[in-house]
Amino acid sequence: MNWQIAIDGPAGSGKSTIAQAVAKELGFEHIDTGAMYRAVTLKALKLKINLENEEEFHFLETTKIDFESQKIYLDDQDVSKAIRSLEVTNHVSLVSKYGYVRKKMVTLQQFFVANKNVIMDGRDIGTVVLPQANLKIYLNANVEERAKRRMKERLEQHQETGDLETTIKEIIDRDYKDSTRLISPLKKADDAIEIDSSNLSVECVVKKIISLVFERGYKMEKELKNENVELQEQTKEQKEELVEEQVTPEEEVITEVVTEEKVETPEVVAEEKVEDEEETLESEDSEASETTEVEETSEEETAKAVKYKELQIVSGTVVEVIPEQPENKAGSKVIKAKEERVLITLEDGQEGFLFKRDTAGIKEDEDLIDLFCEGDKVEVAIKKIFPDGGKFIFSTILLNKRKELEKFGAELKRDTVFTAKVLKQIQVGLLMKYEDFSCLLPTSQAAVAEDELATLVGKEISVAPIRVDYGRIRIIVSQILADRINARADKKTFMETLEVGQIYDGVVKNIERYGAFVEISKNVEGLLHISEIDHSRVFKVEKVLNVGDSVKVKVIKLEKEHIGLSRKALIPNYWEEYINGKAVGELTTGKVLEINNSGVVMALTPEISGFLPKSEFSWDRDVKLEDSVKVDEELEVKIIEIDATKKRIILSKKQLVVNPWQSLSVKAGDVVDAKVTKALPEGFIVTIDGVEGYLPKSTIRSIDPNSVEIDQEIKAKIRVLDPEKNKLVLSMRDAEERIERETFKSTMDLQDKMSNTFGDYLKQSKKK
Ligand code: DC
Repeated sequence: MNWQIAIDGPAGSGKSTIAQAVAKELGFEHIDTGAMYRAVTLKALKLKINLENEEEFHFLETTKIDFESQKIYLDDQDVSKAIRSLEVTNHVSLVSKYGYVRKKMVTLQQFFVANKNVIMDGRDIGTVVLPQANLKIYLNANVEERAKRRMKERLEQHQETGDLETTIKEIIDRDYKDSTRLISPLKKADDAIEIDSSNLSVECVVKKIISLVFERGYKMEKELKNENVELQEQTKEQKEELVEEQVTPEEEVITEVVTEEKVETPEVVAEEKVEDEEETLESEDSEASETTEVEETSEEETAKAVKYKELQIVSGTVVEVIPEQPENKAGSKVIKAKEERVLITLEDGQEGFLFKRDTAGIKEDEDLIDLFCEGDKVEVAIKKIFPDGGKFIFSTILLNKRKELEKFGAELKRDTVFTAKVLKQIQVGLLMKYEDFSCLLPTSQAAVAEDELATLVGKEISVAPIRVDYGRIRIIVSQILADRINARADKKTFMETLEVGQIYDGVVKNIERYGAFVEISKNVEGLLHISEIDHSRVFKVEKVLNVGDSVKVKVIKLEKEHIGLSRKALIPNYWEEYINGKAVGELTTGKVLEINNSGVVMALTPEISGFLPKSEFSWDRDVKLEDSVKVDEELEVKIIEIDATKKRIILSKKQLVVNPWQSLSVKAGDVVDAKVTKALPEGFIVTIDGVEGYLPKSTIRSIDPNSVEIDQEIKAKIRVLDPEKNKLVLSMRDAEERIERETFKSTMDLQDKMSNTFGDYLKQSKKK
């Protein structure tokens, strides 16, 4: 089971320093989650997004944050120093309050701890990130002490410190923000142990935590783990695996010998017994006394041998070069043939043999006697310790390998990548060979899925060393790390040649509200801002581009790592071309693209569209667009507005004809001739000089309203006429009454005329 330690606490309580020291002491991995929030803040500042707008943090979808050798990498760049700037510190509390940012970070933090012993520090580790942690510490210190520590830290980093009072204020402000934010505020977990470090040294706090770790059972697990790495205490299967890992295919030296010994162990032991026998045979001792002797020394020697480990390098003295002994018979017993070998004693008197096959640099026709003399001081590696102790098999081949490995380890540089050949798959990963070194690629470090590992056997693959395992004389490598280093190197090379004005065929990797991230080379992405997608206004990126789309882009901005791209720079500016040749008031034709509630969208050219609002379609306010026009229909229109900033053209159709309402020569009260054009349930639509009006049935008196026919000419009086509102209401009754009145009046006038005297008549005609 893996171990997790959570350390939470306010700013300046010493979490990171303590966590780092504990991690070092226990061999745990340290994850500084504050550094992650700082990295996010750094990127947000670099991208110049609006920090107040949580939505703009979606750049995290394509952001990489990683730890390696106590350094934090942001998109493969070491930002360990940059994240400690005052600017980042001043903004990180704001950034870390956003739910979206926290969710992203917590997921990543939980991913980091998988299959590892970790110590993680932050604000919400015991409460949110690792609620199941084996040990939770809440580290605290008084404000003044914490402010002093912050100032010291800044001084060490050659940053401005400010005075104590300001720093205290800053700390109080940060405490407040961190503990009052809505999501995952700084809080002591119920099961956390609080340590006040105000008056404690770092060492003291570290010791305290380590003793708590051991108290909680880690010590036992650690010992078990140690046992695992000690070859002589491994189980048979583990041993086999280890032997497999040692394969050096061309010579197969180690495997051959160790496997041989493994298989032959009983025999070798028997052989040793025979040696003992030889000695005893000489004195013709009984088997019983010999057995007792072996058992007695065995116990003693086992105790001594425990301090040695296989593959350990030791110094000794050549006691004797024992010549090859042919098989012979001693009484009834057959004494097996024995190879030539060198007997070596270690400083504590324990002995072992070095055989020719384990001797480095010995030629085919040379014997050990040609290389070794009694009394020579030699350095050898222990190749084998027999379980009952007391005897070793030494090797100078392994010694040399180990020394070469030490040289390799000492010269190893950061970001080293080499090509190694995959030899075989074993339980824990792949065995590989690089030059003369044996390498292990653990499954977790392969860039392919576990069930695809076998496909790599026989291939040469790029790997990066992550650790040199001197104990097992091999290099632990990672394909994932190599890919990352290669990608970083490729990116660096690419960036060195990148220039404003270059054109790339890119692929859309991610879409944000404000634009699209386009990959222009492997792992190199630039931002295609929404305003750079097209010459005409783009309201939604998704309307033009989708993830996975190929897109031709031009580099228009280069600011450190930030690459600004443009798509529109590579497409003709149809808008400019169109607008240059057109003016407001001009007539043009277009094709109907879309009809909606507010008007008609028209294609003026294949690339340029214009909008014909419903109010500009017809002088008839109640016009029904769907009945009046069809998609694809050609219309003649007038340009009535060109909005260069919004790239919008507004059109009118009604302005091509005169407004019949304005040219009407009648007025309210007039009796007019109208033509019935449409029957409605409660009245009729009638027209006068091309203008439509309404004649309610209730105003028809002299005839039966149901007898009125379409196209019938009627006389009606204008009751209401409002050209602005396109309103015309008529009445037949009013017209009839008026006609009646006028007829009556003229009849009366005529009668009057008839009753006048001739003199009256003359008077009147004189007045006229
Ligand atoms: O520990 P630090 O000062 O580097 O943390 C930087 C900021 O990140 C701090 O203001 C609180 C925030 N943070 C957080 O909200 N949650 C964490 N787990 C770690 C840090």
